[in-house]
Amino acid sequence: MNKQVKLLDGSEVTLRFLEPKDVDNLYQFFLKRIKEEDLLLFKDNVRDYYLVKSWCENIDHNRVIPIVAEAPDGSIIGVGSLHFRPHGWSRDVGKIRVSICAWCRGKGLGKAIVEELINLAKDRGMRAIIAEVVSPQKAALQTLRKAQFEEQAVIKNIATDHKGNPLDLHIFVKYL
Ligand SMILES: CC(C)(COP(=O)(O)OP(=O)(O)OC[C@H]1O[C@@H](n2cnc3c(N)ncnc32)[C@H](O)[C@@H]1OP(=O)(O)O)[C@@H](O)C(=O)NCCC(=O)NCCS
Repeated sequence: MNKQVKLLDGSEVTLRFLEPKDVDNLYQFFLKRIKEEDLLLFKDNVRDYYLVKSWCENIDHNRVIPIVAEAPDGSIIGVGSLHFRPHGWSRDVGKIRVSICAWCRGKGLGKAIVEELINLAKDRGMRAIIAEVVSPQKAALQTLRKAQFEEQAVIKNIATDHKGNPLDLHIFVKYL
């Protein structure tokens, strides 16, 4: 996959698979392009260089397909991933995660990455995709609704923000 996408401000980015050579670039993305308060949206410590290195060096498209959005200057300004397991009840159900540089939002990049992840899930013969959103991520709710995901459940007060306040978890599903 190597796809050129024109954003709403006229700039162009390349969507492509994450590669082993991206270690430093991806680390810089998590270090400089994600706001402190958004770190809680990740399930891992993405500012751990060795964790990012191990992700880049152990890419296994039979479990996770990570994609990146590369700006013309070579920097990574958005990431997305499709997660799945080959066995068990969820063997044909994928889960997606998307994160866009805090200063590059609202230009259509999130939408483009979600579309690409949907295409990858379809190519893999998946039956459905799940996405989890912690409120109040209005942009995420809107992005998923626009991509025809349906909100199937809200788990009240299950998440905690960086100040210790409770947040709801919205579960979105798209049947393919
Ligand atoms: C959610 C996220 C990926 C969206 O990326 P983005 O590049 O800003 O989104 P886009 O520019 O493609 O916009 C997609 C839609 O959301 C809407 N949107 C964008 N920002 C919005 C905001 N702050 N409030 C309401 N709607 C918003 C856009 O208008 C667009 O809808 P439209 O086509 O009807 O105009 C990005 O905000 C992000 O990284 N958030 C933190 C991570 C996260 O919550 N991930 C969960 C998703 S699985």
